Amino acid sequence: MQEIKITTTLTCYDHIEELPQSVQELMESAVEARKKAYAPYSKFRVGVALLLENGKVILGNNQENAAYPSGLCAERVAIFHAGAEYPGITIKQIAITATSDNHINKTPIPPCGSCRQSIAEYEMRQESPIEIYFMGGEGKIMKSNSLKDLLPLVFDKSYL
Ligand code: THU
Repeated sequence: MQEIKITTTLTCYDHIEELPQSVQELMESAVEARKKAYAPYSKFRVGVALLLENGKVILGNNQENAAYPSGLCAERVAIFHAGAEYPGITIKQIAITATSDNHINKTPIPPCGSCRQSIAEYEMRQESPIEIYFMGGEGKIMKSNSLKDLLPLVFDKSYL
């Protein structure tokens, strides 16, 4: 019997202005996308901006549904759009922001488990890491250098 310890490393920025200019702009695009979320049930709005290697920025936001499970998270709206319109184009960075209509979230809000699994598929497919920046409504931002840092022991095609 042996115990296995898994560690991960993230970078934490105190404020959006600490980010490189291009990432600030990406996060600002995510904020704009967040404002257009369709979240009448949870009142929790998530916005995503995804940078492709060809310079295109793909936006996404959560799309809810009266039949709750039929809705979709912002991250998957964005990444599936990228996969549909730009297959084979590498995804470099993802910026995520989330906040409630009821109060401003100031702590970084990471992508949910299902979205991590979906992003993992694209990272493995393109064989290069995707940088993920996540914020609340404002305030601190966390960065992971790869999806793998957010999802140790990921399930992937090697198990099939
Ligand atoms: N949501 C996202 O868009 N991304 C996540 O990673 C977590 C949750 C959405 C789904 C739902 O519309 C609302 O936030 C509340 O869970």
